[in-house]
Amino acid sequence: MVLEGLSVNSAKKLYIETFGCQMNVNDSETMVSLLKELAYEPTDSPSSADLIILNTCCIRAKAEQKVYSELGRLKDLKRGGRRVILGVGGCIAQQMGDRLFKRVPYLDLVFGTHSLHLLPEMVRAAERGERVSRNDFLDSETRRDLFPRWDAQSGISRFVTVMQGCDNFCSYCIVPYVRGREVSRRSAEILRDIREMAEAGVREVTLLGQNVNSYGLKSPGEPDFAGLLRSVAEIDGIERIRFTTSHPKDMSSSLIDCFSDLEKLCGHIHLPAQSGSDRILERMNRGYTRREYLEKIAALKQARPDIAVTGDMIVGFPGETEDDFSQTLSLMEEVGYADLFSFVFSARRETAAAKYPDGLTRREKEERLSRLQKCQDRLSLARNESLVGTCQEVLVEGESRRSGQIFGRTGGNRIVNFAADPALMGRIVSVRIVRAFRNSLLGELL
Ligand code: SAH
Ligand code: SF4
Ligand code: F3S
Repeated sequence: MVLEGLSVNSAKKLYIETFGCQMNVNDSETMVSLLKELAYEPTDSPSSADLIILNTCCIRAKAEQKVYSELGRLKDLKRGGRRVILGVGGCIAQQMGDRLFKRVPYLDLVFGTHSLHLLPEMVRAAERGERVSRNDFLDSETRRDLFPRWDAQSGISRFVTVMQGCDNFCSYCIVPYVRGREVSRRSAEILRDIREMAEAGVREVTLLGQNVNSYGLKSPGEPDFAGLLRSVAEIDGIERIRFTTSHPKDMSSSLIDCFSDLEKLCGHIHLPAQSGSDRILERMNRGYTRREYLEKIAALKQARPDIAVTGDMIVGFPGETEDDFSQTLSLMEEVGYADLFSFVFSARRETAAAKYPDGLTRREKEERLSRLQKCQDRLSLARNESLVGTCQEVLVEGESRRSGQIFGRTGGNRIVNFAADPALMGRIVSVRIVRAFRNSLLGELL
């Protein structure tokens, strides 16, 4: 008995900070469950942690700098009397490997994106005082067997990784170098996990991958992404299905058909265009033209007239002229994005575009970004205003900051705040939209 008490009191604390995309968020969830077998429990405070892991991103220079400044702050913690293990995982770890030990001498652990499954044994080694680093790339067959299973944590909405890696090599992008080649998870495993999630009360799943619409294309005998969606839609208990991210060139007509056929599939598509200019799209190696992109959007709108389209744009790509940029703005108007993530081009080591001559000044790029964002503010508000007076199905996620209100998301992924009982959490309710803001809606429970 005493021993049991001791083991509870001595539970080790794990602090994880996630810097990257939804895939990284999902990987952090996997780390938490893998480290349970070593008796680590999550904590929100780095100063009380026995193990600190930074799950890193290097998509743009800013993301990378954030990680290094956080490592700088953590140095003092390492200097304090208490022993704490400091580890770096994710995309910077994959790219840098043990070179990170040189840059950050007080680091104990480096594990790349293909080494997640090794985390428990690496942490054991670090507990013995060893310094360990792993950033090998694994072959696809091995990786197919290593997709983490669902960790039995419940919740209303969960991520399900269906594929990882990217073979597209857009000329600006680091992802193919840090996530490796595309590999799809076996559909039987995905469906088994989602069935179990549904039984445990999960109502919404978001299928994740760097490029979900090439799911299954390299796996003979497996369904394609549209086929996978159709099977997920048959699972009782799952009421909403989302997915991200899609590449326009692989947006097949069978996938577009899913938006007219599958009621559970939310009316939202995140389809990054990156630019509205054919010249720039070609230099980006995106594999589609502006016209082809707009044709896919038109087909999606035909399949689901109220579909919310969101996207990503890069401004200041090397060689982008004022004319190229104005084509990006006009594409935004034509699509009528509900929302947009926009970034100034950031040169990434190893990528082709890092060697392209870049004639624009920083100021010109920032100025274009701010014009683009102003345009998007107007489009987002207009889209939200068009919803005023409509009735929306909202999946309740939690309590709003304003007391007496709760919030949830529409199928189109807009946040709606409305006055209601928090006991509605996890339910899909009908809400009438009464006011629109740039980033959210105000509603009334029906
Ligand atoms: N797999 C996703 C994108 C992942 S990266 C897709 O293909 O859509 C998320 C976004 O970051 C990209 O869509 C792009 O807009 C942006 N991005 C990627 N590399 C970048 C770079 N070097 N500079 C600026 N933005 C970049
Ligand atoms: Fe990067 Fe392009 Fe792959 Fe997306 S599709 S992850 S932007 S290389
Ligand atoms: Fe960043 Fe890696 Fe995701 S570079 S965007 S965390 S795949």
